Amino acid sequence: MSTINQPPQPRGDLTLQTIAMPKDTNANGDIFGGWMLSQMDLGSAILAQRIAKGRVTTVAISEMAFLRSVPVGAIVSCYCDLIKIGRSSMTINVEVWINLESTNEPAKVTEGEFVFVAIDDEGTTRSVPIDSQP
Ligand SMILES: CC(C)(COP(=O)(O)OP(=O)(O)OC[C@H]1O[C@@H](n2cnc3c(N)ncnc32)[C@H](O)[C@@H]1OP(=O)(O)O)[C@@H](O)C(=O)NCCC(=O)NCCS
Repeated sequence: MSTINQPPQPRGDLTLQTIAMPKDTNANGDIFGGWMLSQMDLGSAILAQRIAKGRVTTVAISEMAFLRSVPVGAIVSCYCDLIKIGRSSMTINVEVWINLESTNEPAKVTEGEFVFVAIDDEGTTRSVPIDSQP
């Protein structure tokens, strides 16, 4: 079946959903990029913790793109997809989607790649459990 006329779909699992509030705006009245980054960090940490079965920390953001502005009141959804797993590290692709005010169509507003490391209680790296490996 052709997918040419299909609307674009988010990639990955929905791990976090929230509403963009007036306190999170920048000088233009749109949502501040730092707030968005924070939601993406939280959303991808949820997936990384599930995979690592415990504590994780963000070690890098290897790619980031802001594609559209986000208005106050938008429902912000973070979709996360594991794209690479190492000994202790997990690279997760994160997409943020909203529904456009004009058409109510879903639209991707931001995407990025977040790298997490599994750590123990002392903050030292540990191996991601074998049964989490693909
Ligand atoms: C994360 C941390 C424990 C890693 O410790 P480390 O001694 O540097 O560990 P390593 O060099 O063995 O790297 C661990 C893994 O991270 C990966 N890694 C390290 N730096 C990376 C980077 N910049 N980009 C991508 N991957 C990276 C390594 O390749 C390694 O992966 P692997 O185990 O799957 O092969 C340590 O750097 C740290 O505590 N950083 C601060 C984290 C933090 O506070 N985050 C919140 C920021 S607000």
